[in-house]
Amino acid sequence: MPATVVIGAQWGDEGKGKVVDLLAERSDMVARYQGGNNAGHTIVAGDEVYKLHLVPSGILYPGTVCVIGNGTVVDPGALCDEIDGLEKRGVSLETLRISGNAHLVMPYHVMLDGASEMRLGKFSIGTTRRGIGPCYEDKAARVGIRAQDLLDPKILVRKLEVALEHKNEILEKLYGMPRLEPQAVAADLLEHAERLRPFIADTALLIDEALREGKRVLFEGAQGTMLDIDHGTYPFVTSSNPIAGAACTGTGIGPTRIDTVLGVSKAYVTRVGEGPFPSELGDADGQRMLERGNEFGTTTGRQRRCGWLDLVALRYAVRLSGMTQLALTKLDVLSGFREVKLCRAYRDRDGAELVNFPYHQTVFHGCQPIYESMPGWDEDLSECRTLEELPPRAREYVDAIAEAVEVPITLIGTGQGRHQVIDQVGA
Ligand code: GDP
Ligand code: IMO
Ligand code: MG
Repeated sequence: MPATVVIGAQWGDEGKGKVVDLLAERSDMVARYQGGNNAGHTIVAGDEVYKLHLVPSGILYPGTVCVIGNGTVVDPGALCDEIDGLEKRGVSLETLRISGNAHLVMPYHVMLDGASEMRLGKFSIGTTRRGIGPCYEDKAARVGIRAQDLLDPKILVRKLEVALEHKNEILEKLYGMPRLEPQAVAADLLEHAERLRPFIADTALLIDEALREGKRVLFEGAQGTMLDIDHGTYPFVTSSNPIAGAACTGTGIGPTRIDTVLGVSKAYVTRVGEGPFPSELGDADGQRMLERGNEFGTTTGRQRRCGWLDLVALRYAVRLSGMTQLALTKLDVLSGFREVKLCRAYRDRDGAELVNFPYHQTVFHGCQPIYESMPGWDEDLSECRTLEELPPRAREYVDAIAEAVEVPITLIGTGQGRHQVIDQVGA
């Protein structure tokens, strides 16, 4: 598996960080291809808990090159804080590389993200307020500031002047916020520039060289398929493409270079922020998932909404990214349920049964889940390391999912810890 894309198959927080960390042990390079510090990827290594936002989840292995690709958006202050925090804990950042083409999240992006959410009121998206959407807006509008601009202070100030001319009007006139001075914004940025300069590189070239040398490269997705700006539950999505295809545009490699696409799905579903979620539970079962799964956002601390596994959405995710393998995380959380349910199809408002994910949002918003029930299991799974050690009913649940989505499940999460996993990726 020289080039493997690891992507979220749901609404984010599937456990991508843990999976990437596990596979990074046998990889040479890990590259993030989209998103920014809206992401929160947790790795539990022994007693140590790491919450990564921008730094790729391979950083705990010395020697593994960690790339922040051109498709990501980087908040320089947040990245400096993350680097400092990791260094304080003895993690070496020597192998970190940042694409010169990655766009930078500016202070006005963060201000506009918050202001826009306030303006939307009850129609708000529930963003992480990290400035992600406004930063990608500026990228598309061709007024963005890129990592490489940190290397040329003169250009940086010129670009900030152009961008702020327009942004200040919006900040001041639309939102009644203070204007920002280009010189002051540039001065702040240049402080971070000192710190970040050694990491900025031509990362597309580095990845190409690694692949040519036969090295193993992981492409780490952030967020998840259902938050994809094109294919997710628009407008309740993030502003980038988390699906596997974006690993190419977000790092600068061609699609023929990718060998494996590993989707990551929880054994149930969670979602943070607003938007439709057909299998959401408002009952004691949902509460149990929340408590046993400790379902609170890694980035914002918000409580995650919980529900039964949605096979319609999962099949959709498999299709959109051409997944060749699936990691099923947090199976341990489902121990102790009298029965476990799988959403096999949706019932639309007209009573029709849908097995394919509906493309029309009005239809999707009106969908009710059609469940298949299976008997639950009581056994604790935290020590299971092989398929044979799983209780038969847990195994039946896993087999039913693999059969429904027609993709082999090669990793099963049985606990938070790094090695609490049934690992068949190489099998
Ligand atoms: P990511 O954004 O996809 O990397 O996921 P997060 O780190 O935001 O959220 C996943 C949470 O589940 C983290 O707290 C992980 O430590 C935890 N986790 C991952 N896999 C498992 C598992 O198999 N079992 C349990 N109990 N927790 C897990
Ligand atoms: P990881 O990588 C879960 C959600 C937000 C909101 C929507 C848009 O840890 O899986 P944004 O700030 O991106 O404009 O918010 O997307 N969201 C996530 N939900 N996990 C994430 O990242 C998320 N990143 C953004 O809650 O609903
Ligand atoms: Mg997360």
